[in-house]
Amino acid sequence: MDRIWSDLIQPPEIMYGTRRWKFPPAEAGHWREVLRLPERGTICEVGCGPGGLLTRIAETSLAPSRIIGIDMDRGQLEFAGRRLAELGLSEVELLAGDACSMPLPDHCVDALTSHALIEHLPDTGAFFRECKRVLRPGGTLSVACAGGRYSVDNRHPDAPKELTDEIHQLERIMQPWDDALNQAYFVWQGGPFIAYPGIVRSWGLDEFRVDSWSKTICWDDHRLSEEDRLIFVRLFRSVPPEMPPTEARIREALAKVGAGAPATPYLTERERCRLRELYDERERLALEEVRKAGSGPFFATTVALVASGIVR
Ligand SMILES: C[S@@+](CC[C@H](N)C(=O)[O-])C[C@H]1O[C@@H](n2cnc3c(N)ncnc32)[C@H](O)[C@@H]1O
Repeated sequence: MDRIWSDLIQPPEIMYGTRRWKFPPAEAGHWREVLRLPERGTICEVGCGPGGLLTRIAETSLAPSRIIGIDMDRGQLEFAGRRLAELGLSEVELLAGDACSMPLPDHCVDALTSHALIEHLPDTGAFFRECKRVLRPGGTLSVACAGGRYSVDNRHPDAPKELTDEIHQLERIMQPWDDALNQAYFVWQGGPFIAYPGIVRSWGLDEFRVDSWSKTICWDDHRLSEEDRLIFVRLFRSVPPEMPPTEARIREALAKVGAGAPATPYLTERERCRLRELYDERERLALEEVRKAGSGPFFATTVALVASGIVR
């Protein structure tokens, strides 16, 4: 088990916040139906990451239920463990393991779900066989993934041009490294999203169906709390201080999965600190906007495609 995902790909905090927002308890009736989660029973989220959805599942399941989260990344699981403890949900079980070889006995799960996992798995057939092994006959499986070009961003330029230009210049240096990491870890990146349900359909589930689950965020939406708005401002801060993506670490991660690192040099330590300063400045400006009444227009829609069915 390593920390590549949490250290180099997606910081746990942002993913946690966005998922908590995307699966609100007030809408649990709907998203639980789309994910085919029973009211109670043994429910497992595989590839649970920092636990945004997992905590929501636990909060909205009835007793007696057994809730399990599985992930291969130590940083994500540590983060999830802390959040579960804070929410008084320590009975939720977190297990370290691979989605294609889960640390669970045969036929012990009533509902298995995954969100934003399948697109990262090299062998979806192996994943399905494993789901089938751990699910009891008649149990439900749901697989959610990002659908199409999922965000529409009409944010007005709220930062001076020089700031944006300098950010873009440094981001261009990082780009080949991001691409290499993407190729190594986002197996289906760039593939037709609509093909995922097709693949899942070929697994031969009973009562197969495809649903979608979408959420729109708008800073001007008066129904949003400030906390919710800040989650989205922070999405634009992609180099948190606790996550220094140095060249050596990325090389190591890529070597581990047999992928080659780009020949170009990564950001120097000084450039990285500068980029961090620029992101902070941009965040400061965006926060000012958000705090103003009727703040700057911005909206984004995230769409999840959910394929689900019943395992024979
Ligand atoms: C995009 S994140 C989604 C996390 C979570 N489901 C959510 O939506 O917040 C993908 C997660 O899958 C995990 N992951 C990727 N490949 C995996 C595998 N083969 N086995 C278990 N977990 C895996 C990563 O560590 C990461 O936490």
